Amino acid sequence: MPLSDPQTQNGPRHVAIIMDGNGRWAQMRGRPRLFGHHAGARRVREIVEACPDLGVKYLTIFAFSTENWKRTQTEVAGLMSLFRRYIQRESRDLFQRGVRVRFIGDRIRLDDKLVTLMDELELLTAGNDRVHLTIALNYGGRDEVTRAAKRLALEIEKGRLSHKDVDAETLSRFLDTHVLPDPDLVIRTSGEARISNFLLWQSAYAEYIFVDTLWPDFTAAEFARVLAEYGVRDRRFGAVKA
Ligand code: IPE
Ligand code: IPE
Ligand code: MG
Repeated sequence: MPLSDPQTQNGPRHVAIIMDGNGRWAQMRGRPRLFGHHAGARRVREIVEACPDLGVKYLTIFAFSTENWKRTQTEVAGLMSLFRRYIQRESRDLFQRGVRVRFIGDRIRLDDKLVTLMDELELLTAGNDRVHLTIALNYGGRDEVTRAAKRLALEIEKGRLSHKDVDAETLSRFLDTHVLPDPDLVIRTSGEARISNFLLWQSAYAEYIFVDTLWPDFTAAEFARVLAEYGVRDRRFGAVKA
C-alpha cells in the first residue's frame, strides 16, 4: 500500500487495538491471569463482527508482543494453547463471515503446530474481503523494522536492489504489514497510555484513543463510541488547512 494513504471520510478505515487489561480483569475476580485471557479472546468476535456496520475495513489486534515472553512459563504456554484453540474454534466462522485473516510478527519462535494453524487460516480466508483481520502474534515494531532492514540489506547484497532505491516506500514493502494501509486509529484499553512497541512505523500519523475499560469488558457499543470520538478529530498530516 502507498505510504501516504490518508482516510478522507469520517470513520477510520483501519483500526488497530492494543487489547490490554486481561490480567487485571482476572485478578479483580480472584482468578488466574489466563482466565482473563480467555475472556479477552471471547471479546474479539464481537468487535470483529461490529466492523462492517461501522465502516471499518481493516482491524489489527495485538495478541502477543515480542516482550511478552518475559512472563511466566505458565502464562506463556497458556496463551500459546489459547491461540491454537482460538484458531481451531473460530476458523470456520471467520471464513463464513467473509473475514480475511492475516498474521504479523516473527513466526520463528512460535511452535510448529501453531504456525501450521496460522498458515491454514490465512489460506482458508485468502479469498475473503469483507473485513481484513490482522492478528499480531510475537510482534514488535522494532523487531519488524529490523527484520525488514535485514531483508532489504540482503536484496542489496544480492545486487537485486541499489542503495539509491532505499526510501520510506521501499522499506515499507519489506514490513509484515506491506499489504495493509496504515492505521487511522490506534485504541488501547486498560488505562495505560503507551504504545508498547506496536506498529511503530505504521502509526506515524495515527490518532490514539486510550480508554480505561479492561479489554474483556470492551463492548461493540464502546467501540462505536470510540470511533465517534475519532470522527471529530482533525487530522492535518503536518499541513495547514487552506
Ligand atoms: C493483554 O492483557 C494481553 C497480553 C499482553 C497477552 P495483559 O495480560 O497485559 O493484562 P494486564 O495488563 O496484566 O492487566
Ligand atoms: C501490550 O500489552 C501487548 C499486548 C496487548 C499483546 P503489555 O501488557 O504487554 O504492555 P506493557 O508491558 O504494559 O507495556
Ligand atoms: Mg498488560
